[in-house]
Amino acid sequence: MLQLLGPTRIRFMDHFEEPPHAIVYAPGRVNLMGEHTDYQEGFVLPVAINRYVVIALHQAPGAQSRWFTSSSLRPVTFDISNPDAGKDTWARYGVGVAHQFIKAGHAIDDTRAFVESNIPVGAGLSSSAALTCAFAVYYNEITQAKYDALTLAKMAQAGENEFAGVPCGLMDPLAVLGGEAGCAMFIDLRDPGHYHSVKLPEGFSIVVCDTGIRHDLGSGDYAKRTAESAAAAKALGKPMLRDVTLGDVEAAKSQLGDVPYRRARHVVSENKRTALMANALLKQDLASIGGLMKESHLSQSHDYEVSCQEADTMAEICWAAEGCIGARLTGGGFGGSLVAIIRSEAFPQFSAEVSERYLGQTGKQAKVLQCAAVNGAGFTRDLGTEPPHIEPHVRFRKTLFPLAEYTYPTAWSGLSDGLL
Ligand code: GLA
Repeated sequence: MLQLLGPTRIRFMDHFEEPPHAIVYAPGRVNLMGEHTDYQEGFVLPVAINRYVVIALHQAPGAQSRWFTSSSLRPVTFDISNPDAGKDTWARYGVGVAHQFIKAGHAIDDTRAFVESNIPVGAGLSSSAALTCAFAVYYNEITQAKYDALTLAKMAQAGENEFAGVPCGLMDPLAVLGGEAGCAMFIDLRDPGHYHSVKLPEGFSIVVCDTGIRHDLGSGDYAKRTAESAAAAKALGKPMLRDVTLGDVEAAKSQLGDVPYRRARHVVSENKRTALMANALLKQDLASIGGLMKESHLSQSHDYEVSCQEADTMAEICWAAEGCIGARLTGGGFGGSLVAIIRSEAFPQFSAEVSERYLGQTGKQAKVLQCAAVNGAGFTRDLGTEPPHIEPHVRFRKTLFPLAEYTYPTAWSGLSDGLL
């Protein structure tokens, strides 16, 4: 984030000929386990990563908002009070968040803004949640609303749902706002106001393998999966797939029919894998980490059908590569990235091997990024010439993940049956 702070401030001054009065930043995230479980109140295990959206801002009451980004020469110009502001542009994400504050009764001024990002867009790394959360942090400070992390995460989610038309769940803003350096966050979406901190094993790196395949989550396939999961829960007579055991799914196999059966089986088994993964990370049980990640990828590919040929090829390449402990598709899917856990010292060889084989087998260029687990979003008004020290903006209640097996809700008594 520090590398982007100075340049973002300078670009702001280039465009507006005055210094910004605030800078906010928000990281991207990878999810180590728990894919397509958040909207069924399941478990997730995300990590905030050291790729950031940074925004320099200045209030401009009485003038129009003018927002620049480094990826486009032209600014987006609008009145923030207009609910249609920024339509069909990237600015919609920020406008959507501003309007959550307006709806809650806060006065929101127009602003000058410059947005910089080094999170690849559409790669499954939550570039959009980083954008909405950075704006949420800014408006939280500027209005002195002092919303807690969960409220802010819900405002960021609502901004994206209602204004950008993406029906995403709550995992991404929770991770982007609440991330903790060196740790993954085990979040139970039935109680998302706090998380269990899972310390990541030392000597291993989280690596993002970007397939280069892009798929817009607003295009309908993501929404289709959320609807299919809701329908499967209904057919099983439960409010959410979170309340279903693998035994329930197997018992209802013929009644459900093939597709709802496979959708339910993915979500229910993925919840189980998420709890097991948190324990495996804590115990540094490398064989279990690898097995769970592989199983999760196969479940996403075969049962939930959110993978694609290139992502499956990438998975095979990663599993066989030097130093790789485990790898799986991460994020919304239909392309995007895989997350791998590798031995840190093997990174140069892993990266070279994955890039070369992926190019050979698909004709496409992969991007392989070594990531660190970092703290969540932050804010500063302290804008001297030196980069300011910025503390995370909001804190979640946090407890350590239990080393003993996670105590499942009673509905999970059937955990011993099924896939694992
Ligand atoms: C996207 C959504 C999240 C989550 C993941 C899949 O990233 O924004 O809410 O559903 O897909 O796990």
